[in-house]
Amino acid sequence: MDHSLLGSSHAQRRQRFLEQLGGAAAVIPAAPLAVHHADCEWPFRQNSDFWYLTGFDEPDAVALFLPHRPAGERYVLFVASKDPSAEVWTGHRWGTEGAVAVFGADIAHPLPELEQRLGTYLQGAEGIAFRVGRHPAVEPLVLAAWARQLDRAPRSGHAALGLVAPCPILHGLRLRKSPEELERMRLACRISAEAHELARQVARPGLNERQVQAVIEQHFLEQGARGPAYGSIVAGGANACVLHYTANNAPLNDGDLLLIDAGCSLADYYNGDITRTFPINGRFTGEQRALYELVLAAQAAAVAAVAPGFTAEGVHETALRVLVEGLLELGLLAGSVDGVIAEGAYRHLYMHRTGHWLGLDVHDVGAYRLGEHHVTLEPGMVLTVEPGLYVSDRLPVPEGQPAIDERWMGIGIRIEDDVAVSEHGHEVLTAAALKAPAALER
Ligand code: GLY
Ligand code: MN
Ligand code: MN
Repeated sequence: MDHSLLGSSHAQRRQRFLEQLGGAAAVIPAAPLAVHHADCEWPFRQNSDFWYLTGFDEPDAVALFLPHRPAGERYVLFVASKDPSAEVWTGHRWGTEGAVAVFGADIAHPLPELEQRLGTYLQGAEGIAFRVGRHPAVEPLVLAAWARQLDRAPRSGHAALGLVAPCPILHGLRLRKSPEELERMRLACRISAEAHELARQVARPGLNERQVQAVIEQHFLEQGARGPAYGSIVAGGANACVLHYTANNAPLNDGDLLLIDAGCSLADYYNGDITRTFPINGRFTGEQRALYELVLAAQAAAVAAVAPGFTAEGVHETALRVLVEGLLELGLLAGSVDGVIAEGAYRHLYMHRTGHWLGLDVHDVGAYRLGEHHVTLEPGMVLTVEPGLYVSDRLPVPEGQPAIDERWMGIGIRIEDDVAVSEHGHEVLTAAALKAPAALER
C-alpha cells in the first residue's frame, strides 16, 4: 500500500463522522479474508466503510468511534498484533504501534482484547451505531456488550438504549466525493477507458472473449491498479444479452457485436465502470447500427440531464423515454410512449435501471430516495449512466407487443459512462473510451 495515499483525508472523514454521530458510539468492522476454495483465500478486499474511515488495509480489524470520550480517546483500533511467524506467511502487519503511528488511531489494542474492552469503551454512549447482519464475527460481541449495559442500567443509571445503523451518516458522507476522491476516480476511469481502447484495437473474429479480457486486465495491472473492480464482462454476440455474463470463453464471430463491461479498481479501491459495444469486424450491420444509435442517443440525453438539482430517477426516465420512442419507430414496440412506459411493456428489451452511484463500491452506497423523495444530485456525487437494449427470447414479449423479427435476435448493446455531478452540470470521467459509431468502425 502506498501510504502517500493516506494523506489527511481519512482524518477529516473521521472528524465529520464523529461530529454527525452525536452521542452514539460507532463500531465499524474491517472485512475478513474470504475463502475461494479449500484453504485458498481470495486476495484481500477491505470493507469500504472501514476503509473510508481508516485507510487501514488488514483483515478482521475493528474501529471504534467514541464521540462521548475526551479528545485523544475517540478513535480506537483493534488490530492483529505483530507476529513474525505469521508474517512469514502472510506478510507485513502494522500491529498496534503502526495503527497509532501511521494510521492515526488515538489508542490501539490487539484484536483478541476486543471482547473484554468493548463494553468499557461503549459506556456512556447514548446509542451504538453498528450494522447488524453484516459482520458475523463482531456482532455477538456488540450485542453482548449492549446486553450487559442494559442489565446493569438499573444500578449504573445509564446504558446505550438504541442500536442504530451507521449507514445514513456514513453513506451520506461517502455519497458526496471530495476533490481528492474525484481525482482518484478520474484516474480509475482513465485507466479503465484506456483498457477499452486497447480491447477494441485487438478484437477480431476468431479471438476468444478471454483473450480480450486478458488485454484489459493486463492494462489494469500494468497501470498499478489492483485489477478488475468486478468480474469483467466480455460478451460476444448473444452473450451480451446475459447481463452478468462472466464466462468469457466463447470465440468472437465475424458479424457479431462485442460488449465489454470492465473497469479497474485502484490500490485505494476507487473504481471505474465502463461498458462499450462495437462490431467485432469493424462494421455494424443495419440492425446493429439502428439499435446502437438508439442506445447512444438515450445515453447522450441521460448524460446531458446530469446536473445539480436533477435526480438519478430523472436520469433513468430520460434514457427510458428515448429508448421507447426509438423502439416504437423501429417497430419493436407498439402503442404510445406513455402507455408503454406506464405498463412496463419495454422490459423484455430493457430490463435494468440506467445507473447507480459509483465510488469505493462499484454499486456504491447512498440513498436514491428517502421515502417518496428522490435524492437530488449534488456536486461531488458520481453515477453511472448505462442504458442498453438486449434482444433475446428469454423474456416473453408482453401481450399486445409485436413479435420480434429474427433479424434483431441476439443483439445486446450497453453504453456506460461514469459521470460526476459538477457545480453547474457534469463531468464525464470516462470520455476517453470512444463510442461514436465512426470511431468504432474501420
Ligand atoms: N459492471 C456492473 C454495472 O455496470 O453495474
Ligand atoms: Mn455500472
Ligand atoms: Mn458496468
